[in-house]
Amino acid sequence: MSVVIVVGAQWGDEGKGKVVDLFTERADVVVRYGGGANAGHTLVIDGQKLVTHLVPSGVCHPGKSCVLGDGMVIDPHTLLEELAQCQARGLLAQGELLIGLGAHVILPYHKLVDGLREDHGAKRGQAIGTTRRGIGPAYADKASRIGIRVQDVLDPKILRQKIEVALAEKNLWLERIYETDGFDLETVWSQYAGLAERLAPYVGDASLLVDEALRAGKDVLFEGAQATLLDLDHGTYPFVTSSNPIASGAATGMGIGPTRIDRVLGVSKAYVTRVGEGPFPSEIRGADQDRLRELGGEYGTVTGRERRCGWLDLVALRYAVRVNGMTSLALTKLDVLSDFEELPVCVRYRLRDGSETEHFPAHQSDFHHAEPVWETLAGWHEPLDNASTLDELPEAAHRYVEFVSKALDVPIELVGVGAARERVLV
Ligand code: GDP
Ligand code: IMO
Ligand code: MG
Repeated sequence: MSVVIVVGAQWGDEGKGKVVDLFTERADVVVRYGGGANAGHTLVIDGQKLVTHLVPSGVCHPGKSCVLGDGMVIDPHTLLEELAQCQARGLLAQGELLIGLGAHVILPYHKLVDGLREDHGAKRGQAIGTTRRGIGPAYADKASRIGIRVQDVLDPKILRQKIEVALAEKNLWLERIYETDGFDLETVWSQYAGLAERLAPYVGDASLLVDEALRAGKDVLFEGAQATLLDLDHGTYPFVTSSNPIASGAATGMGIGPTRIDRVLGVSKAYVTRVGEGPFPSEIRGADQDRLRELGGEYGTVTGRERRCGWLDLVALRYAVRVNGMTSLALTKLDVLSDFEELPVCVRYRLRDGSETEHFPAHQSDFHHAEPVWETLAGWHEPLDNASTLDELPEAAHRYVEFVSKALDVPIELVGVGAARERVLV
């Protein structure tokens, strides 16, 4: 029996999907514990690409249980679409998917408010750059205790009452603040009540399923979505998502105790990307920004936006090791760096008073003004296609991996050298 959490160590899109797919080989149950369809996790198997948004990335392994935990915010339309796509490929047979009864549901007003708030924010230079999937407004309703949960959708009477309560507030808000039309109760209600029959076969007690699996000696894999620096409490607030992607969010989101967790595997790119607004000390200024984006194919999986690119930031990564209690690291996309003569790595931040630190600043103003202190490592100018073990990497590539591991004091468990499932060195 073991519980492993796979968690994003940066600002998302580190390659968590691919790592989860690999680890599912050794797992019986794969669970998503937070976030929603703001996630886009890419799998490349036998030349075919599959992007998961809500369904766990263990989906390509028949016979394993895929679970959506209570900590998630689920857009049922996206989920049913994804489910249909998976089933068309012969995946997710009956009994292989379980949706937590306590997970919250995204309603049309969440998406509308998310978009309107972003548009208004943009006019004042205050946009967050969200995915506009309704994530923030849905988690806000959850905290305000006017959210709608998966179990509510199954009961038309309760559903109607709850939507009525929510709309009383939402419609006022939409009309007065955003000067736009509100929603009609009957329309929203009938649209969601109509989903009950399709969702019902998959709905159940997610916490109990995981507990029973563990008691039966099975292996459970937790799939983080988003990432450490997007964490609501410990990320770069306010430029964050509205959930707790960090490892401890897995226990809360799934409803198991932290004592059950054995290992935390962080996933980091060999460089950094960020989609959306917010400070980014190691962001590349100059032509290498576009060069790295092109080489890495750094365009958002969910929104298609350009990802901002930077050199590896060891200060931020050291922080991710700390807040996640990371026991090992997967370093992905090392192959993308093969083209560069030299590879700057941010080893410290220089603060406004001229002092230097290896620790992630706790005060947002210090972080906003932090300047990277670089150490430059040699590049390797050759593709990594011929390596099938870490020892077969070109010497400079090997040194890069060792440098990271030593600086963080964390073992590097695997290195990604291509998008395909098998392009990984263990
Ligand atoms: P996730 O959200 O963390 O699952 O990551 P995304 O799927 O959003 O983005 C990662 C991108 O990098 C995807 O296009 C993957 O196919 C790709 N990828 C993952 N690992 C590697 C790797 O080691 N090398 C290369 N070149 N691409 C990778
Ligand atoms: P995966 O799981 C990268 C970012 C958005 C925005 C901020 C808030 O694929 O790594 P939200 O819609 O969550 O309210 O947006 O968080 N963001 C992500 N960036 N990968 C993700 O997921 C992300 N999920 C949210 O771009 O800056
Ligand atoms: Mg992604």
